[in-house]
Amino acid sequence: MVIRQPNPAETNGVCDQGKDEEMTKTEPHPDRQTDANPALPHWQATVLTLFPDMFPGHLAHSLAGKSLNEGIWALKTLDIRDFARDKHRTVDDTPLGGGVGMVLKPDVVAAALAAVADYPGPRIYLSPRGRVLDQALVRDLAAAKGAVFLCGRYEGVDQRVIDSADLMEVSIGDYILSGGETAALTLMDSVIRLLPGVMGKEASHREESFETGLLEHSHYTQPRVWNGIEAPEILASGHHRKIAEWRQAEAEKETQRRRPDLWQQYLDRQALQNGKSE
Ligand code: ADE
Repeated sequence: MVIRQPNPAETNGVCDQGKDEEMTKTEPHPDRQTDANPALPHWQATVLTLFPDMFPGHLAHSLAGKSLNEGIWALKTLDIRDFARDKHRTVDDTPLGGGVGMVLKPDVVAAALAAVADYPGPRIYLSPRGRVLDQALVRDLAAAKGAVFLCGRYEGVDQRVIDSADLMEVSIGDYILSGGETAALTLMDSVIRLLPGVMGKEASHREESFETGLLEHSHYTQPRVWNGIEAPEILASGHHRKIAEWRQAEAEKETQRRRPDLWQQYLDRQALQNGKSE
């Protein structure tokens, strides 16, 4: 995939990527956003970042890349620096009250957000302080028409812009990344695979099994005996019901062993369902 690198002077900081694998000059308006196939379900990812070249990153490959080319989803990146107002294109300043690092200026970030006011979906600020991403949120985001991702750098974004734009803060886990970009890419990855037409049947089935609240059972392939280790005999029996029962039992055992927190949630949910049906 050849992606022409954006020239901010030419693109006004806005960069589309879609079916023709090229970034094109465009105004930030949904009517002219991309050449995504209008006949397909279309999910619009809009990214505000200081590092637009980090996108689509790994999402240019495999199923995500194929579905980007097919127009199932579309990507637009805006360079936050293009919304700076001074000749030095300053985007950050020292923290009020002192301390280390720099903070992204509220006026610059607010101007970038205003430029995508017409773009679909919730406004998400990637931050380790946010709600921790889980499959329920991924599903909700996949059901929307898209999402706008604000990627922070340095110490983060001035709190006033987060509050006044009512941004949804989302974390991808309890650890600190050097910026929101890799978090946005991870979140986008988890959403894109749920869009209609992206995954095959097998992957959809995997999704359904995760919805039960259990981890997946272990997987095996040929040869039946490898390095002197046998794969479970039942899997070669051709007995579909018994195989399904073995997989269910294996999923339960492994969830209990690896993730007692998920296991407890699973038991609580089952108890609730049983209570309701009585
Ligand atoms: N930015 C830095 N760390 C992050 C995290 N864990 N999740 C989301 N955004 C981040």
